[in-house]
Amino acid sequence: MRDIDPTTLTADEWDELNFPRPEENDFDRVVESAISRRGFLGGVLAFGSGAAAMGAGLLGSTSAQAQAASRFAFTPIAAQTDGTVHVPEGYEWKILARWGDPLFSDADGYDVTDGGPVENSDRVFGENTDGMEAFSYRGHQLIAINHEYPNRKINLPAAQKGKPASADDVRKLQNIQGVTVMEIAEGPDGWAVVKDSPFNRRIHHNTPMKIAGPAAGHDLLKTEADPSGTLSLGTLNNCGAGKTPWGTYLTCEENFNGYFGSSDETASYDPKVADGYKRYGIKAQGWNGYELFDPRFDTSKNPNEPHRAGWIVEIDPTDPESTPVKHTGLGRFKHENAAVELARDGRVVVYMGDDERGEYLYKFVSNGIYTPGGETEGLLDDGTLYVARFNDDGTGQWLPLTPETTGMDPAEILIFTRMAASKAGGTTMDRPEWVATSPVAAEAYCCLTNNKNRGVKPNAGGDDTSVNGPNPREANKYGQIVRWRPANEDHAEAGFDWDLYVMAGNPTVHKDAYAGSENINEGNLFNSPDGMAIDSTGLVWIQTDGNDDNDGDFAGHGNNQMLVGDPVTREIVRFMTGPTGCEVTGLTWSADRRTMFVGIQHPGKNWPDGGTPRSSVIAIKRKDNGLIG
Ligand code: FEO
Ligand code: CA
Ligand code: CA
Repeated sequence: MRDIDPTTLTADEWDELNFPRPEENDFDRVVESAISRRGFLGGVLAFGSGAAAMGAGLLGSTSAQAQAASRFAFTPIAAQTDGTVHVPEGYEWKILARWGDPLFSDADGYDVTDGGPVENSDRVFGENTDGMEAFSYRGHQLIAINHEYPNRKINLPAAQKGKPASADDVRKLQNIQGVTVMEIAEGPDGWAVVKDSPFNRRIHHNTPMKIAGPAAGHDLLKTEADPSGTLSLGTLNNCGAGKTPWGTYLTCEENFNGYFGSSDETASYDPKVADGYKRYGIKAQGWNGYELFDPRFDTSKNPNEPHRAGWIVEIDPTDPESTPVKHTGLGRFKHENAAVELARDGRVVVYMGDDERGEYLYKFVSNGIYTPGGETEGLLDDGTLYVARFNDDGTGQWLPLTPETTGMDPAEILIFTRMAASKAGGTTMDRPEWVATSPVAAEAYCCLTNNKNRGVKPNAGGDDTSVNGPNPREANKYGQIVRWRPANEDHAEAGFDWDLYVMAGNPTVHKDAYAGSENINEGNLFNSPDGMAIDSTGLVWIQTDGNDDNDGDFAGHGNNQMLVGDPVTREIVRFMTGPTGCEVTGLTWSADRRTMFVGIQHPGKNWPDGGTPRSSVIAIKRKDNGLIG
């Protein structure tokens, strides 16, 4: 590993290098998988054909776009490969905020052209915008937005090639990640950040946080700096998001492992700690180089510090003085996002994906009941965590993670949730990214972005990753979206029915399962569904983070994009395309639903200003100021 400079790698490349290789590639298992895959796909495709018979057959791009034009109130756009954003005719987009834009006047001089100085780096809009949620509060429009990871080659002086060279460099990287809370307002020139609003706030890798819930204070969470195990600093790798019914923001810590390393490669760890490092991918050499200059991230000095990340953090966007809370009740893994629903009896249900190849999909159900205006403390910590099991016959169960089902004690189930899920017998998934629930039907969707290891090698815990019901393709390069309907239309129920809403693919290249499901056609090609939200009318908005080579298996897919799907007919059409090299991630709506805010993360080349590429949030509107969708 030492011959590769990890600071030049993407999170995915770093994980790929660091995750333990399987000891063997079980040929028999792969063959068996292929056989069962053929059997299962018959069922899925038959369903797609059924949908076609009902009038949703999409035979080609022209007919698909013509049908969609009437159904979606806009003319779908073609795939694009250029360096800017495209939206349908009759719509327009404008920049709301870019990395480095000052949130406060005292940061007006922050200059991104040379990476920007450490001074004021926590007073500007952060890097790599991701999940976001909008809030209305006493006439103010607020947005809370994640900043997932740095673009070190841009954020540090170019000569350093992405390598931090000082404690100041590390501090700057820490400052430009985390979360921004900001007030926005719409004026004659469109939406803009309200500079110096009292609501504006940056939360970063050194912001004090409270650790709450059953694992708070556990020995595995104690450090020299915090012998109580209840106070941590910062929130790491904030990916997707969520919103509670009581108006708080949930930010989800995903690839936290990459921020830790060790100055002593021979350091030995307690076996329980070492097992956790292995399953979660904590290695001697970190991805961001923090351990070189910040001992908190040096596991040879602070072996428990990684246990204090990988959680969901609750933030009150209306109170800039509030202390964010890490909720151990929601488990510790590479949290993608959090989709919050209320059960029929008022219990709080949170759906959560663990984005790694062959990891799991989870659900939390609170013991307490939410009542508007009532006490909410403890609701996200006192409850039961479940892992999803999908049966090949279209049914499924949420399996509780308890001492009885896992052989683990209650706090360790939460700290080492992945191991608990393996023991309980969950279904290994193709990288669960965002979960979205429908406001008009009792159903939920999860983007399974892709998984080149499906049917090829086990997950980091050694669990079997043969093809299975919702993950039916080996070496899955395109991804799919699974959806489920809870029994009795109650998200707290243990049972559910599921189907595949779409399997992405390329029917112009493949004639087998890699062509995708029936609702994929030349007019809507995409791969690697990732971000997702369902609007108030039930339409499913899908954002992609995939291969944008537009070549070979991905010919015709173009740049990463945002599509919208009809949940009933399964029609999917393209609404927006991003600039080359970007990932489209994060979306929310203004209170009047006439503006959609969308995140453009790590654009390539020089978008949007012609200079240093800057991750940005854009505001999309109809030119006639109509409702979007
Ligand atoms: Fe941060 Fe799995 O995306
Ligand atoms: Ca994502
Ligand atoms: Ca992704």
